[in-house]
Amino acid sequence: MKTRELSPMKGDIPKDYLVSFPINQNKYLINGELCKWQGDFQNVYSPIYVRTENNSSNLIGSYPLMDKETALYALESAVNAYNNGQGEWPRMPIEQRIDCLKNFVSLMKEQKNLVVNLLMWEIGKTLKESEKEFDRTIEYINDTIEALKDLDRDASRITIKQGIIAQIKRAPLGVVLCMGPFNYPLNETFTTLIPALIMGNTVVFKPAKLGVLLLSPLLNAFKSAFPKGVVNIVYGRGRNVIEPIMTSGKINVLAFIGSCNVANTLKKQHPYPHLLKSVLGLEAKNPAIILSDAEIEHTIKECITGTLSFNGQRCTALKILFIHEKIYDIFLEKFTSAVDNLNLGLPWDKNVDLTPLPEKDKPMLLQEILEDAIKKGAIICNKNGGIVNETSFFPVVLSNVNETMRIYHEEQFGPIIPIVKFNDIQEPLKYVINSNFGQQASIFGNDAIQISKLIDALVNQVCRVNINSQCQRGPDIFPFTGRKDSAEGTLSVSDALRVFSIRTMVAVKETESNKKIIKRIFDSKSSNFLRTDYIF
Ligand code: G3H
Repeated sequence: MKTRELSPMKGDIPKDYLVSFPINQNKYLINGELCKWQGDFQNVYSPIYVRTENNSSNLIGSYPLMDKETALYALESAVNAYNNGQGEWPRMPIEQRIDCLKNFVSLMKEQKNLVVNLLMWEIGKTLKESEKEFDRTIEYINDTIEALKDLDRDASRITIKQGIIAQIKRAPLGVVLCMGPFNYPLNETFTTLIPALIMGNTVVFKPAKLGVLLLSPLLNAFKSAFPKGVVNIVYGRGRNVIEPIMTSGKINVLAFIGSCNVANTLKKQHPYPHLLKSVLGLEAKNPAIILSDAEIEHTIKECITGTLSFNGQRCTALKILFIHEKIYDIFLEKFTSAVDNLNLGLPWDKNVDLTPLPEKDKPMLLQEILEDAIKKGAIICNKNGGIVNETSFFPVVLSNVNETMRIYHEEQFGPIIPIVKFNDIQEPLKYVINSNFGQQASIFGNDAIQISKLIDALVNQVCRVNINSQCQRGPDIFPFTGRKDSAEGTLSVSDALRVFSIRTMVAVKETESNKKIIKRIFDSKSSNFLRTDYIF
């Protein structure tokens, strides 16, 4: 283990990554106005403690702890801006909505440095990964614009069938509540927020529980790029701000990325289940199935990034490894030493692999899961496994794992790597079938026939089978979804446009007088919906 200094002296922090803390974010955006919050605040703590001569602190700012009334005001603003589909935004021609989004992108780009620095300070993501999250988000927005143009071009034609002329397009659904996760507080929040907006919905969004301050540099961009009430942002505790919004029955789409428990609670709060559409990205327990002929060095490399990039805090992370007994010993020895050689350090350190954890209680929760497993016979294989240093937890390679242990079933969402030895392929298959989750799986091996049989068994259990590579969401044009408790609805650049809209059509009987009316509407371009021109 190469552990670097995790609590730097202020003077030792490279100036490019210094932010003038504290950031007391006392402004909030509702109904097109940046208002000043007068109530209580939530302190924001970094996973990184900064030392000065006399003390050490990780307090980096604060954000509003809103109350029910303010949350309902945000909702009312979104409801009014939508105005039953009659508002400026839902009726706006698509090209104009695209212009608003392009304006937002250019304003957002100006804030890159600060947003990237805040990603590092707030959630401990490495510099490289933080930059990637920002750039990936910009690319996602640009790709969304292109996908919408495609969608609109396809829908610009008319269909004539059984004497009926029809034009079929997609229309918005109403008011969307967007809530993203702390591990991708920018990217994953925006993968629902942006398609929801561009399809003409209005939005209330609540930042994730961590990674809140990094959205403050974007408040002005939201305010100036979109008409009033189209984007409204709420902060605070779920029971104070989200419960009143959901129980109002005025939310049409819940876009939530987070835990199953919270998703269940939120859905139950809505009084009209059939009115609510849910788009959910939830928990996962993706297995790697490592066959006897797997190429060991390559598999280790993929399993290291698969299990430990961003300290294992990815929904797509490999969360359990099944290793064939024939290569078990050699694999485990090499894998364990590769883990122990990883660099634990600060997000901006050169070649850093592991960083402090942003959730305050996480080391303790991981410790509990470990204790349960060890009591039932699991073994910590690496000498540095489980060493806790304030907010950091060195990864544990845990062998002898079996189905009696919590770690076998529960999503750890952190740096513990459970290992199971198998000789019968039915064991990992049974694991996948019995799991509550069904997002992805990885197969490592070389025998095409054996792999093909596994593919056929797994594709009916999960939604992406990766061959000789770790699990991942990207590229973002691919469908991202899951079965069972892992997801509801499918996200990808183009699927998201469909998820946040509904097909609506105009149909007329093919009579001469009707044809004249339709032609006149096309020629005069008097309808924003019924038109045949192309967006380039
Ligand atoms: O946390 C879940 C993310 O969607 C994973 O995305 O595979 O690109 O890290 P990623």
